[in-house]
Amino acid sequence: MTSRTAAPEDRYTAEPFVPAGATSLDALREAAAGCRGCPLHRDATRTVFGAGNAQGRVMLVGEQPGDQEDRQGRPFVGPAGKLLDRALAAAGIDPGETYVTNAVKHFKFTRAEPRKRRIHKAPTLREAAACAPWLAAELAVVEPELIVVLGATAGKALLGSSFRVTQVRGTVLEEEIHGRHERLVPTVHPSSVLRADDREAAYQGLVSDLGVAARILA
Ligand code: URA
Ligand code: SF4
Repeated sequence: MTSRTAAPEDRYTAEPFVPAGATSLDALREAAAGCRGCPLHRDATRTVFGAGNAQGRVMLVGEQPGDQEDRQGRPFVGPAGKLLDRALAAAGIDPGETYVTNAVKHFKFTRAEPRKRRIHKAPTLREAAACAPWLAAELAVVEPELIVVLGATAGKALLGSSFRVTQVRGTVLEEEIHGRHERLVPTVHPSSVLRADDREAAYQGLVSDLGVAARILA
């Protein structure tokens, strides 16, 4: 008889893996490497924890690592990250001054055929909720002045399932999140710019939203 029954979806959570009272990102990153809070750890290569400037005034929150991030172990190192860095610089935010992370820390994907290219699959709200204790711990350590919310998954993870990026992009929100008062500027996900029919217009929209964040920091 086997006792390998998977936890029901509503019990997915990273909580037992988060060290209580962790005060450093290194301690969190090390613990997150062993997270099994939801099934996404099974197929991904590794946990991709947040990275960048731990003293950064801005925390950028994306969706989940992609193929390149899963291979390299760092967030936003693939095509979306390159575009994001370019947009940040264009808006007057030094990418080196930011801390970058994702709502979900393991890569979720499907394959059309075995051994074929891995295709990004959006995480569910439950998976994002399961992973939220890591994001909460990162926020508590980094204490950013401003959170830039990149797209719907990050928005729902931070602000609830009624979040609609089209309604609030480029505005400044003030919310109580994980017991802390946070200031947030939502915008689209950089991957959506890469997929847009009018890429230039989509890119300019992203830069313009990031400009709102830049003015707060000025
Ligand atoms: N997209 C994301 O949301 N995060 C990454 O780290 C890479 C691509
Ligand atoms: Fe843990 Fe998040 Fe990975 Fe799920 S996605 S196993 S909660 S780190």
